[in-house]
Amino acid sequence: MGCCSRIDWEPSLAYVRPMDASTGTEEEPTEDSRQLPKNYDALAPRLPESGCDLFEIFGATAEIEIVIGFGRGMFLERRTAANPDAWLLGIEIKSKWAYKVSERCKRRGLDRVRAYGGDVRQVLPNLGPDACLARAFLHFPDPWWKKRHAKRMVMGQLVLDELARLLRPGGEFFVQTDVEDRAEGYRRQLQEHPRFELEGQGYLQGNPYDAVSNREKRAIEDGLPVYRLLALRV
Ligand SMILES: C[S@@+](CC[C@H](N)C(=O)[O-])C[C@H]1O[C@@H](n2cnc3c(N)ncnc32)[C@H](O)[C@@H]1O
Repeated sequence: MGCCSRIDWEPSLAYVRPMDASTGTEEEPTEDSRQLPKNYDALAPRLPESGCDLFEIFGATAEIEIVIGFGRGMFLERRTAANPDAWLLGIEIKSKWAYKVSERCKRRGLDRVRAYGGDVRQVLPNLGPDACLARAFLHFPDPWWKKRHAKRMVMGQLVLDELARLLRPGGEFFVQTDVEDRAEGYRRQLQEHPRFELEGQGYLQGNPYDAVSNREKRAIEDGLPVYRLLALRV
């Protein structure tokens, strides 16, 4: 597996046209987007580090879904269109995308979507109350291939334990990747976790959520296999 070919969501160009999440095409630059550079770390919206009650943000009866590492944000937009009952919380470590996606959602009036910047491994422990989430999505995570990058991995004990705490009983955790070794590793971790039960024996045939992520759309177009896992919180 080549190491660089998959790190393609962050081109190293000085100026990149924003992506239109609904079409996967680039948006025309606006006056605003031409004024570079921006301090995205300061601009990206953040959840309070002191702790955050998601029912206060979304409402006590909200069906809340979390999208971890939303990148350019296509899944957030498509999912809110596909499920009118879902309230979406996105967490993305790259401030640039957190800011851009958040602004785009506001511009488009997607009032059931909130996109925040942050490392999900630091954000999840501050969220509550327990059992507040209906679903969690992790699309194409962990494009790290060198041993020294292992510390960046999102999927791991901490994230699994936190999702087990935050998902309601029967809540869904959907993980997908186009890297078979990674998928096998995720499957093992989910099988071994006492509070998750995998749906079916193997991978899902398709994505049951009527919404694709940017990376998923690209993988499908490129004819790559996509390994999809659905685990229920028990
Ligand atoms: C390969 S990209 C996939 C993006 C998107 N999920 C998709 O499928 O198109 C992985 C994404 O996870 C984000 N990410 C990596 N580590 C993260 C972390 N600790 N917390 C939040 N997001 C993270 C990256 O910045 C990147 O946007």
